[in-house]
Order: sequence, then structure tokens, then C-alpha cells
Amino acid sequence: MALGAVLLLSVGCMNSRGSVALLDYDWTHLAGAERVDEGVRIEGLGRAIVPTEDAKDQTPVSNPPINLRGAVLRVKGDFALSAKLSRLESSPDDSAYLTIYGKLPLTQDEWRQDGRAVTLGLEGDSLIVELQDGIDDSERHAYPLPASASDEVKLGLARIGEWLSIQINGETVGLLDEPGLFDSGVLWFGASADEGSEYLLHSLKARALSKRSTATVADNQIPVFGAGEKAQPGSAPASLRRLAGKNHPQLYIGTAVAAIPLLSDKKYARILAREFNMVTPENAMKFQFIHPRPDRYAFADADAIVDFAEANDMAVHGHTLAWKEALPRWVTEQDHGAVRIREILAEHIATVVGRYKGRIQSWDVVNEPFEPFGATLRIGSPWYQTMGKDYIAFALREAHRADPEARLYINDYALEHPSPKSDAMYALAESLLERGVPLHGIGFQMHEDMTDDYQPVEASVFHDNVQRFIDLGLEVRISEMDVNLQDDASQERLQQQAEYYRSILELAMDNPAFTAFSTWGFTDRYSSLQEWWDTDGFGNGLIFDANHQPKPAYFSLQEALKE
Ligand code: XIL
Repeated sequence: MALGAVLLLSVGCMNSRGSVALLDYDWTHLAGAERVDEGVRIEGLGRAIVPTEDAKDQTPVSNPPINLRGAVLRVKGDFALSAKLSRLESSPDDSAYLTIYGKLPLTQDEWRQDGRAVTLGLEGDSLIVELQDGIDDSERHAYPLPASASDEVKLGLARIGEWLSIQINGETVGLLDEPGLFDSGVLWFGASADEGSEYLLHSLKARALSKRSTATVADNQIPVFGAGEKAQPGSAPASLRRLAGKNHPQLYIGTAVAAIPLLSDKKYARILAREFNMVTPENAMKFQFIHPRPDRYAFADADAIVDFAEANDMAVHGHTLAWKEALPRWVTEQDHGAVRIREILAEHIATVVGRYKGRIQSWDVVNEPFEPFGATLRIGSPWYQTMGKDYIAFALREAHRADPEARLYINDYALEHPSPKSDAMYALAESLLERGVPLHGIGFQMHEDMTDDYQPVEASVFHDNVQRFIDLGLEVRISEMDVNLQDDASQERLQQQAEYYRSILELAMDNPAFTAFSTWGFTDRYSSLQEWWDTDGFGNGLIFDANHQPKPAYFSLQEALKE
């Protein structure tokens, strides 16, 4: 068992007599926030989830930052929050938003599953109050602001029984039905503004409203469980990382992770630290997440993952730098010209790789360069459009310059079996190596399906095909494995899934050229196979179930690693 999470670092508690100043807690890890004398300055980063190619015409979904490493409020009964905000005199029409979450959203890269929240927003000369009650259920109310728009405004939000009361400068302006947005009793805070807007959050206070209600604040920080290897008593079943460390030390046991569960779900964090010794940020380092505006980066989520990994003695595999997807509109929707596109990519790589220099051991520098099931390169990215196939060598060289120690990979799917695509990857790798381009390895994603009509590539077939890459002197890794059972997650299927996972792990264990066996998430609860429109529509492709319980696949990996 773990030593116990150091999650609650400092705790402030108050009753109806006093209030707690939430700005006294950590706001330095919120993307777009900066501590200043007057409080916290919030700048709109315009971070958005841009839908994929097929849904190009849809409006990007905004993806505002949440203060995951900061004040978390636990409430029972009635409570009140009050905030003082002001916009700059020079731009009084700027927007200013403060969001209080009772349930955090699930944020992937192509979609966002909304949770439950209230947003208070200044827009022009109105106060906007938006209630979000899960997926597709939101309502919006507007109230006039009395003072001139750039003056300091005091906003109040109180839960009183089944009501939400809204105040402006001490006066109640609205009383709304409270549909249970704060029933979890745990409140998180987010602050944002429209892209390019900024505002000052001068104060944010919370208090309990009656003798029987309570409001308690904790400073939520990175959970630390003690070194994974030592974190279990002798009699407990050995964890994957512990067994691998002992029997197959050359092979990292990895998984993809996301910042929201990492910082809000203790069980998730505990299993992660106990079972794995490598993490890949699932989305947090993708271009649109981390670099939302030409001159602005949003490192908070990526930092949290890297800090967590270090604190829990895990390696980090970075994902990803030059890809055709997850590009913000500022990159794709302007004609920058060839020279500027090269600069954008070079500057992006230098900044992101440079920030984590020495802390990220390997990178997917180039992701999915080939057509889905074809032998030709994908031509749609601005990188290919301006540099042709040379963008690949360019990106690898820039990454190498930024961190000469990092191991650099090209990562793709549908490469496991012999195919024109896999031949094309082989030819590409060979020619890069011949030219002295710093390429160290190939990532085989292994997003697999297993159904009555479809069986994933057999380990023996993969084995024969991967050998030629190894013979070039390259490292290889299983980078994103999941085994989607689609509609049939019967015991029989779960058993087959287990055996399949095991066959691939055994292949990797037995060949020293494999540096990592990494799954794309570990719990079905937060899997990318989740149906985003259905909060209970969990995936079934990973090794822990939606209640974080180990599945047959977990036990079969454990068995395999014992050998
Ligand atoms: C996926 C993420 O898991 C999702 O959260 C997101 O919505 C889309 O991208 N190949 C890759 C990964 O290299 O980056 C993709 O991740 C899965 C396929």
C-alpha cells in the first residue's frame, strides 16, 4: 500500500463567524494567472478544443483553465462565496469569468464532457450567470451591472437550501433554482477571460452560512506516494512497476495520463504511482493545449504531470511535437508563409522541449506522419505543406538541439503487421538514419479492436515485422495500447483481452530493443474510448475497470512480469 497521499497540505476551516480568503492559497499553477500586488491577474489564453478534420466547421469548444493545484473548498449546508473583480480601465469591455465547479469536466483533445458548474462573468455592462448541469444542460442569465464597467465589482454567490442567490455589490439581484450543482460537496475554481482579455481578481472568499454548515479549504497539491518500489508491504501482490523493475529493468511500464483525474481522483493517482514507472501526457502537451496563442503557452497541466512523475519516481515520455492534429486555429487558419511556418515549429519545439530538458526522457517528435492505412505521408499539416517530407528531419533536429539527451521517436498506428504503411515507415526510418538525422526509435501505438469480426494483429506477426526496425539499430516501444471490445465485454472476451495484452507484453519483455510497454490510459473510467455524450458510457479497452478495479488483463500482465 502507498504511504498515503500528501494531498491536503494546509487546511483552513471556518463557520458562520468567519470567512476564508481563497486567494491566500496557490494560484501560481493556473494557466493564464499571475500573482500581482492587487491579487491575481487573469489573462485569457483562448485555449480551445478544435474538433477534428471531419468536424472542421464546428466552433472550437473553449477549454478554460481550472486551478487544480490550489484552493479546493469542501462544503456542507449553506455557503456563500464573494469575489472582487475589476477590468482594466483601458479595456472596460473585456470579459472576466470565474467558474466554480461542483463536478469537474472531462477534457480530452477532441471533446469535452461538461461537469457541473456555475460561471459568473462580466461581459460589457452585464453580469452573466451560467449554470452548467452536466452534458448539454446549461442556462444563462444576465443582470445589469450598476457601476461603470471598469470599476471594481463585488460579486456574491450563495447556496441557500435549494436556491442560488446572486449578488452584485451586496444587493441580491437574482434567485435561481439550484439543481444540485454542488451536491458533491467539493468545489474547484477556474478563472479565465476571452482570448486577449485580462482582469484582476482582487479577492475571493468563502464562508459557511449557518451554525450547522461548514466550509473547509485545502491547498490541493501534487500527491506523493513514496517511491513506487517500496510502497507495498511484502505480502501485497506485486505491482507491475515493481515486477518490471526487478525482472525486466530495461522495459518501462507506462500509461497515458491526464491532469484532471491526476489531481482530483486520489485513487487514480495512487494506482498510477503504484503500477507504472512511466507516464505519457495524453493531451496536455499537444499543440493546442500547450501553445494556444502565438506568444502564449499554457504549461500548467503538462507541468503537473511532469512534477507528479518526478515526485513519484517515474519517467516521462513526451507527446507530441509535429502532428497534423490538435493544432490551434492560429496555426492552421492563416497563411503564414513557408518561412514563418518553419519558425513556428522550431520555436514551439525549442520552447516545449527546452522547458522540460533533462526531465523528459523520450519524445514522440513526429506523430502519425502517414495516411491512416496507406503508404503515403499525410499532406494536410502546415508542416508538410511548407516543408514537404523534410519537416520530419527538421522536427527531429530541432528537438535534438533543444535536448540532446532525449530519445526521439516517430509514432504511428497500423504498423504492427507487414503492410505498405509499415514498409513506408521502414524506408523513412532507414533514410533518416542514413542522413544522420537524430531518430532513436519507433512507437507502435496498438489501438486494437477485438470483436467477433475482427481480431488484432497476432504477437508473432508483429514480432517478425518489428525485427527489421530493430535491425536498423532503432529502439521500439508499444506506445498507446488499448484493446477495444466494443459491445461485448463478457467474461470470455475479457479473458481474451487479457491473453492478448499478455502476448504483446511478453513480446516486449523478451526483446531488449523494446524500451516501453505503454497503455493509453489505465482505467476505463477516463479512457479515450469513453462515449463523450454519455457520462456512464465508459470504454472497456484498458486494464482497470470504470471503478478502478483490476481486470483480467491487469492480472495477466502481472503474471507475465513475474517471469
Ligand atoms: C487521443 C486522446 O486519447 C483523446 O483524449 C483525444 O480526444 C484525441 O487524441 N493517437 C495518438 C494520440 O497519437 O494522441 C491520440 O490520443 C490517440 C491516437
